[in-house]
Amino acid sequence: QGKYTAILTEVNGRVATITLNRPEALNALNSTLVSELIEAALGFDADPNIGAIVLTGSERAFAAGADIKEMGSLSYSDMLLGGPFPSWEGFERLRTPVIAAVSGYALGGGCELAMMCDIILAADNAKFGQPEINLGTLPGFGGSQRLPRAVGKYKAAELVLTGRQMGAEEAERSGLVSRVVPAAELLEEARKVAQTIAEKSLPALYVAKAALQAAQETPLAEGLKFERQAFAASFATEDQKEGMRAFAEKRAADFSHR
Ligand code: CAA
Repeated sequence: QGKYTAILTEVNGRVATITLNRPEALNALNSTLVSELIEAALGFDADPNIGAIVLTGSERAFAAGADIKEMGSLSYSDMLLGGPFPSWEGFERLRTPVIAAVSGYALGGGCELAMMCDIILAADNAKFGQPEINLGTLPGFGGSQRLPRAVGKYKAAELVLTGRQMGAEEAERSGLVSRVVPAAELLEEARKVAQTIAEKSLPALYVAKAALQAAQETPLAEGLKFERQAFAASFATEDQKEGMRAFAEKRAADFSHR
């Protein structure tokens, strides 16, 4: 808690919440915020008592992008050497499911950060976009790759090449967002989804998330092979036995996360 300056963290039962907290800059992602975010997320990921993470911002902004003032004057070499940002790899490889709860602006790096999460819930005032083209550059945190996978090549091209913002309804219609809720209910809804997930078997969640990631990253035959092996392997867990026994006994499963 006290050790962070640009984020807030909170734990409720098996659900952790990370709140981006640079209100003066609409949660622009500067080096401090990004390293704190990754450190906190990796900490929760390593804790078996955490079954889901909610990532959110303020009502006005999830995040308005990478911090333009911090990076504006950097050179090609600066950026090639890593720029102001630590690698996102740690965040992209989290095993714990992450739900982005997006209210207000999710632009540039903010939209890309939401897309690194497993589920995106949007408030009705959410605005998504990749405006980097207006700055003479292009998405740098994965947007040119994840947005086409999420919304299709043609809509992604329109957004990336024009820099236009898209509202919550359009984002839901396009498949970027799983659900739109009133802004005042966003965090509560996101925590409900996280709570539902966190009650499941943690080993099953890890493998299900890995299979969903394989769907984005591998050819179909590879992904199917991964799934077949992972499905068989899940039968080695206590939770698979408990889950199927509970079904047969018509009672709720009591997972031990083993
Ligand atoms: N970086 C740094 N500061 C930012 C910022 C950003 N990405 N976005 C907003 N801010 C700051 C503003 O400079 C302003 O600070 P001051 O009060 O000190 O001037 C403060 O946040 C509030 O912003 P505005 O006054 O601009 O608020 P607004 O309501 O008039 O406009 C906005 C909101 C449309 C989101 C506008 O702030 C904006 O266009 N922001 C930049 C969006 C953008 O271009 N994002 C992409 C960044 S590049 C990137 O992300 C690269 C990548 O892919 C990795």
